[in-house]
Parts: sequence; C-alpha cells; structure tokens
Amino acid sequence: MHQLLECIDAGTEYCPCYLAESNECIMCSQLQGNTFCDCRNWKGVCIYQEYIWNRSRIKEGRREITCRIAEKKTVSGNLMILTLEANRTLARELNEPGAYVFLRDPRDPGYFDTPMSVMMVNEEEGTLSFAVNTRGVKTKALAGLENEVSLRGPYWNGILGLKYLKGFRRGKALLVARGVGQAPAIAVARKLILAGNQVDMVVDAGNIGVNFAEQYFRDLGCKIILQTVFDKNKLTVSPEALKFIKRQVEDEGVRLVYCGGPELMNRDIKELIQGLEQEVYFVCSNDAKLCCGEGICGSCQTRLHDGNRVITCKTQLNPMEII
Ligand code: FES
Repeated sequence: MHQLLECIDAGTEYCPCYLAESNECIMCSQLQGNTFCDCRNWKGVCIYQEYIWNRSRIKEGRREITCRIAEKKTVSGNLMILTLEANRTLARELNEPGAYVFLRDPRDPGYFDTPMSVMMVNEEEGTLSFAVNTRGVKTKALAGLENEVSLRGPYWNGILGLKYLKGFRRGKALLVARGVGQAPAIAVARKLILAGNQVDMVVDAGNIGVNFAEQYFRDLGCKIILQTVFDKNKLTVSPEALKFIKRQVEDEGVRLVYCGGPELMNRDIKELIQGLEQEVYFVCSNDAKLCCGEGICGSCQTRLHDGNRVITCKTQLNPMEII
C-alpha cells in the first residue's frame, strides 16, 4: 500500500493555520522548526511562502455563521433530518465526500459544538441537510432548536483514504454503511458513480432501526443489499457479512471497499481486506472524537504502525496504517 499522509487543509484558504504558527505544521518542515525544505506530498502551494507573504501570520480561520432551520423531519425515535439555509458558497464547499461542520445552539457556549457529517447539499438553494441522532447533551440541545443554528465550517476530513476514493474510476466498489453512517455514505456513492464505477451498497439499519438513506442510494443507481453487518452484542462484524465481503472481492472483482460505521466494524472489515490476496483500496469514516477540528485540542489523536501520532481531524492518511 502507498504511504499517504497529508493535511486536508493544505493549499486551501485556511492554510497556514494555528499549527504553522506553533511550529507544528503537518506538512512543511520549515514550519516544524527545521531550517531546510523537505516538502512531502506537494499540493501546489508552498505553505512556508504563504506564511511569510502573510507577514508571518496565519490565515483567517473558519467563521461561525447563524443559519435558519428550513425543515426538521423526524425519521424515527431518535433520528431527525435537519435542513439548514446556509449560502451557496458554503454549500458548494461542503458538496464533497468527508465534509462536516460543527453545529450548536447559538445561545450555548463553544464546547457545545457538535461535529455533524453533511448528508445532502443543494448548491442552487444553498441548503444543507444533516442526519441528527439524538444521543447526548449536545445532540439533545440541537434537536430542541426551532429557528436558528450556529454553524462553523467547512471541514473535510470526515473520511480517511480520500485519495483512493477520488482516484477510483470505472471499477467496482462495495460500500458498507451502518446506522447514522448512511448519511456521509451518500456523497461517497455519488462520487464513485460519477466516476463511472459500479456501486453495491450494503445498508445496516443499526441502532437507529431505519434505512433512512436507502432511497437516495437507489436514486443514485446503487445496488442495495439490506443486511445486518455488525453484531452489537458481540461487537464484531457477523461471519456472514465477512464472507459476503470476501466473496465480493474474490469473485465479483470489487477493488474498493468503503466502511461507514462504528470503529470496531471498520476495524474488522479492514483486517479482512488486509488478509486477502487482491489489492483492494480501503476507505472508511473518520471515527475519531472530533472536538475542535483545527488540530489544537488533541482529542482526535491516533497512532500509526510506525509509532507516530497523528491528529486525524487534519491528517489524510491511509486507514490501513492506523493501529
Ligand atoms: S479535533 Fe481537536 S485536534 Fe483534532
């Protein structure tokens, strides 16, 4: 597998960021405190030069905006689809696999910020839809809102292995999504279909008990397989599901597998793929605990096989490298 480690924000209007200012830049050796240039994964922009030209200051960060709630639709007991009126620019920026924002009640303090994957985008109307699963204090506060929501974004690192996803063309892909993980899988399916791929979609209703995104997948042209993938009592992927995925790779020619579900589900499927002879790209949802999204708080840190620690809210990496 190829080594893949780069900052999702490199070369965007949000780069250089706070990390550059504190000599912690993910990509630029000079902005890590070294005196030489050892640029890896060049993304068309010299981060150091951008920093110097900006008078050795970081770029303005992401702003918080207040959005009107256009629609709130309860799908099942704890799940609702929340549609917000944002603006066309933000809608265009968030119309990508892995896009997410932070939402909260405008009256609540900043630590109520809740990371939320973008489910659907309407670029023309500038609206954004989210699947909100009410589970704790922050999501309950969101579910109780009627008029306005505070939104901070855009962020894009909700999926790991984006490079494989974006480069995969005219092949066969298998997507496995469980529970509320169906929401970010819609953008993944759309991206793959637009690139001429055949997409089979395994949908597991999970704890929310409803396949709320099934119709969206059908409309995109995916073949749907409704199946329980994850055994929530044993906390493992069921043997039948593992057999099915293995068969899809070995006999049906699947060469990209996307997993959008709990960390343990993603891990089991990753281990299955690692043990197969065929070279299969593995892409999965970023299940880290996201708190600031800016690489500052450290809550999303994970460790790679080589022992290095990475902050997964900013770092694009090969999910196979995560321990
Ligand atoms: S979420 Fe704070 S460092 Fe990643």
